[in-house]
Amino acid sequence: MNELDTLVVSARQSFAQAQTPADLENVKALYMGKSGRITEMMKGMAALSVDEKKTLGAAINLAKQAIEGALIERRQGLQDAELQSQLKAEALDVTLPGRLRGQGGLHPVSITLERIEQIFGSMGFEVAQGPEIETDWFNFTALNTPEDHPARSMHDTFYVEGGYLLRTHTSPMQIRHAVQHVKRYRNQLDAGQGMPEIRVIAPGRTYRVDSDATHSPMFHQCEGLWIGENMSFKDLKFVFTDFCRTFFESDDLVLRFRPSFFPFTEPSAEIDIQFQAGPLAGRWLEVAGSGQVHPNVVRNMGLDPERFIGFAFGMGPDRLTMLRYGVNDLRLFFDGDIRFLSQFQ
Ligand code: FA5
Ligand code: MG
Repeated sequence: MNELDTLVVSARQSFAQAQTPADLENVKALYMGKSGRITEMMKGMAALSVDEKKTLGAAINLAKQAIEGALIERRQGLQDAELQSQLKAEALDVTLPGRLRGQGGLHPVSITLERIEQIFGSMGFEVAQGPEIETDWFNFTALNTPEDHPARSMHDTFYVEGGYLLRTHTSPMQIRHAVQHVKRYRNQLDAGQGMPEIRVIAPGRTYRVDSDATHSPMFHQCEGLWIGENMSFKDLKFVFTDFCRTFFESDDLVLRFRPSFFPFTEPSAEIDIQFQAGPLAGRWLEVAGSGQVHPNVVRNMGLDPERFIGFAFGMGPDRLTMLRYGVNDLRLFFDGDIRFLSQFQ
């Protein structure tokens, strides 16, 4: 084998050993670079005769072409290998089961609120929303609870800047909604005609400085108000009992109307329900305050208490949820523990 053949063989071997494109380019320089073996041989021809240059030149060119061929082949080989390994790394098994995005669900209290709206909706009640940051007027004074009234101490109120407070109950919505309703029918009323009855529920968040197993500082209430010309306390009993029996899907559910006091109703009653299931089965839990709307409140709605009369109630959807599912600590609803909450889906 002459020197050129040996060179081609050794170039092939070196190229084959190169494992990356960069290695390959480095090895290439040893043969074809400025001071590579082929270049050196070309330079060495300067001293030769014209004939010798011709034959040797042709031979060197052949060797050069062979080495270039080997280089291109190896380049392609390395590229193919790289593509293969990339494809392997990014392989997608389309037969694998998909990764599902975790599906959320309604909070148990939201489920209760939806049921409340649906059941009262079927009895012809509208749904009203109102502000959680209230004025003293709507939260207390308009509800027949003036500044120095001892009943104010029944509520531990969160006061905020600017003379506002966080509503301690949804009862301010009695006034807000009734005033709007009366405004709409003012002309009719002034002309001595009647107006459509006020029949509304107002669910929402309420706040009190309060925390134990049946009290949370943020809790929910749902107000109910029905004002007409021929209402009586028995309508309250019927409507609330009917609601509870539908809500708990139990025809023989027992309710207890316990005489109580609220400045904005007279007479007043608190409503208790018995736990049917869970660790507290048999125990009574208060779920609502209620009563016949006080004449002073009817007046603050812009109505004549000699003519208009009605009832109101304010219930605790959190407590209804406890009863429905047999949960013994209401604070669990607001701890945000997904293990607890996901049981209701
Ligand atoms: C009231 O808030 C009256 N506004 C209810 C009312 C409305 C009476 C209309 C007459 C006419 P009371 O403070 O009892 O009443 O609260 C009503 C219900 O809200 C309670 O029965 C209970 O179910 C719920 N509740 C009250 N405080 C909390 C609390 N801290 N955490 C959870 N639920 C509560
Ligand atoms: Mg009470």
